[in-house]
Amino acid sequence: MKTVDSFNFSGKKALIRVDFNVPLNKSFEITDDTRLKAVLPTVSKVLKDGGSAILMSHLGRPKGGPEEKYSLKHIIPYLSKMFGQEILFADDCIGADAKAKAAALKPGQVLLLENLRFYPEEEKGDVEFAKKLSVLGDVWVNDAFGTAHRAHASTAVIGQFFKDKVCGYVMQAELDNANKLLTSGEKPRTAVMGGSKISDKILVIENLLDKVDNLIIGGGMSYTFTKALGGKIGKSINEPDKLDLALSLLEKAKTKGVKLYLPLDNIIADDFSNDAKRQTVKTGEIPDGWEGLDIGPETVKLFSEVVAGSKTVLWNGPMGVFEFANFATGTIAIAKAVKEATQKGGYSLIGGGDSAAAINNLGFGNDVSYVSTGGGALLEYFEGKTLPGVAALEK
Ligand code: 3PG
Ligand code: MG
Repeated sequence: MKTVDSFNFSGKKALIRVDFNVPLNKSFEITDDTRLKAVLPTVSKVLKDGGSAILMSHLGRPKGGPEEKYSLKHIIPYLSKMFGQEILFADDCIGADAKAKAAALKPGQVLLLENLRFYPEEEKGDVEFAKKLSVLGDVWVNDAFGTAHRAHASTAVIGQFFKDKVCGYVMQAELDNANKLLTSGEKPRTAVMGGSKISDKILVIENLLDKVDNLIIGGGMSYTFTKALGGKIGKSINEPDKLDLALSLLEKAKTKGVKLYLPLDNIIADDFSNDAKRQTVKTGEIPDGWEGLDIGPETVKLFSEVVAGSKTVLWNGPMGVFEFANFATGTIAIAKAVKEATQKGGYSLIGGGDSAAAINNLGFGNDVSYVSTGGGALLEYFEGKTLPGVAALEK
């Protein structure tokens, strides 16, 4: 793969696929700017070389036509500030205006294209649409790790129209960091998996059983394991059709010599709300009418010890309903343990989505080794899948 460092962008228009799919609030303010900040090094290198940058991205999941709330124009003020310069904008990602603006682009300038998903052709991986995008630039840079699991027009299909395909710094860093957990990281390696469903993470868990020494399972999905083991889980979230699967994962972990940790106790609630009545009980002893919303203090102690004693840690998914302050304790404790492992010289990778948000909200973003910009893409990579966005760079 060509890298940003090995490529001279002088006099070139770099068409850069980025993942600017960032959360916006009702006033269109960016509530997490991780993905925006991440692209700064790649774009800066292009401009420093004497090239110009054409940025293309999707935002949200529009229904196949323009929708005001998904316009990328909302992020222009942020980008102007970040780059310290004017950001040009084409309000259609293909067509005459985009073409003219791209053609007029001078070295050092940045042009942002409107949301690619305003065309259904983007997600369909339409070849003609990819071709129309490709004419805008001289070289294609893929820096959208967060969308690398999609075989879309701008993330993969477009590659065939370029002689020069360059792997952006974000893409490179994400793959390098993920590979630390999979292959190169020091042992013991520990994966902390949370979130509500086993079905979302089953392939990841299976693949990681060959890579890690410890696997910690918390969050909503732990109740399916508890139920499978014959415990009482009250009305806790669970997947009744995944009980055999849960047992087989426990069996596989044993066969492979991986230590699999499940919660010892839970904080339970009589209602799914922050103000619900709560109490702490042993795992598997949740009374009828109650549900587990967090891990309990014994579990926090156990999980924190395992994490803090690890040399390589992946954390993906919350330990409880951390949006409710009264049930965020377990998730915050894990974040602290990950920080501690890092302070002791260990390596830590925070899988995107909720765990990244938790780490950033606690202000620990700089206290861990790497916060991934990928959610689904990172999980698919950990499943052992080839990501279409990466494959397109390798062809
Ligand atoms: C994401 O946030 O998951 C990526 O930007 C990809 O978006 P998608 O899940 O809508 O394809
Ligand atoms: Mg997604």
